[in-house]
Amino acid sequence: MEAPEMINAGELVLKRWEPEWAAEAAAAVQESLPELKPFLPWAKDGYGLAESLSFIQMSVDNWAAGTEFNYAIFTTVGDLVGSIGLMTRMGPGTLEIGYWMRTPWAGRGYMTAAVSVLTRVALTLPGVERVAIRYDAANKASAAVAAKAGFVEVDHVERIPEAPGETPVLVTAERRS
Ligand SMILES: CC(C)(COP(=O)(O)OP(=O)(O)OC[C@H]1O[C@@H](n2cnc3c(N)ncnc32)[C@H](O)[C@@H]1OP(=O)(O)O)[C@@H](O)C(=O)NCCC(=O)NCCS
Repeated sequence: MEAPEMINAGELVLKRWEPEWAAEAAAAVQESLPELKPFLPWAKDGYGLAESLSFIQMSVDNWAAGTEFNYAIFTTVGDLVGSIGLMTRMGPGTLEIGYWMRTPWAGRGYMTAAVSVLTRVALTLPGVERVAIRYDAANKASAAVAAKAGFVEVDHVERIPEAPGETPVLVTAERRS
């Protein structure tokens, strides 16, 4: 499977992650930590260049392996405002979307737009029958993004929370067309 390296999404453009953006990505995570920490186990105080370079290198390797397709999200004027990716970890036929938004750009409908476009692209890839988003039951912003992007909740499972804002319940929402 091969995903497009660049995707236009109206006011946004999604570009396959490149190492040269590591410093800006670290700054974006740093300034968004209060919003990211509750639900993203990797988002911790002290997140910096080393962590961001390691994420981008993992993204480069996994893209080459065909297991994960991670994109930086830019505005059309070149601000790096978040990250979104497709993951194969839920098994054949399904691509899972994960995302975070840089706080000063949150609440503008950007992630809903990025998820909508990436879902349309994912559903055209060979063998993909559904796109899923998994979020904690307490993650109201993520649930709102999924619902606005046309995803329907299909599953609730119990799991051990990993991030400080998580409950024991993980919700799966999906879109099949
Ligand atoms: C989830 C996230 C990516 C949303 O990004 P965004 O660009 O702000 O998303 P949008 O602007 O497209 O939509 C956000 C929606 O969430 C709603 N929302 C935000 N915070 C909320 C809250 N605490 N309770 C209920 N709804 C909330 C907004 O009102 C908006 O919905 P609306 O347009 O119907 O009003 C961002 O909040 C984030 O990065 N969160 C931390 C990381 C994370 O949880 N990632 C997902 C893991 S599954």
